[in-house]
Amino acid sequence: MTNAQPGAAQNQLYDLHRSFGALILGIAAMRLLWRLFAPPPPALEGLPRWQELAARGTHYALYVLLFAVPLMGWAGTSAFGAPIFVFGLFELPPILSQNRDLAMVLLTTHKLLAFTLCAVLALHIAAALHHHFIRKDATLRRMLPRLGKR
Ligand code: HEM
Ligand code: HEM
Repeated sequence: MTNAQPGAAQNQLYDLHRSFGALILGIAAMRLLWRLFAPPPPALEGLPRWQELAARGTHYALYVLLFAVPLMGWAGTSAFGAPIFVFGLFELPPILSQNRDLAMVLLTTHKLLAFTLCAVLALHIAAALHHHFIRKDATLRRMLPRLGKR
């Protein structure tokens, strides 16, 4: 997206990026709301304490980043002065007034946070696979509504 030639195609990529980012922000908010009413089950018994704490810390970091990354993108785009059309359906209002220098700082932070999200996510997926294939416990299976109960 950032390396494309300036023009209609690049604008389309920016529009899609911002639309999917806004969608992720909405889904993250719904998930967090849902979690208040349906808290996750406790960690499986027999898990070393440090692994339980590592899992809790990773999940916490994922939630923080799921909000911080798109909000930073929204703030940076507002400061840049560009409109945010979500899939051409509606426009997100700016949350900051125009300031190009600030926009550069916010969008660089946005990018760094997004790469941090990728790193934490890689750890998260590796841990889930470790549970399933090496510890062979029910952590991954119990994410499924029915199969997890077996
Ligand atoms: C979870 C959602 C999001 C992720 C994972 C994400 C990820 C990224 C990444 C990795 C970059 C760096 C691209 C590069 O320089 O190579 C980037 C750039 C950018 N993002 Fe996001 N983004 C998200 C949501 C948003 C949202 C919601 C907006 C605005 C409403 C947004 C606006 C931008 C803009 C304008 C840039 C380009 C900055 C520039 O031109 O240097 N992003 N994003
Ligand atoms: C291959 C992909 C993935 C696998 C296999 C996976 C696996 C899992 C498993 C097994 C759990 C439950 C852990 C437990 O019961 O203690 C979990 C929880 C969680 N996952 Fe993933 N996950 C994946 C992708 C993602 C992605 C893309 C995100 C978000 C960016 C994410 C965010 C979370 C969060 C926040 C929790 C904690 C839920 C809560 O406690 O409310 N996961 N994941």
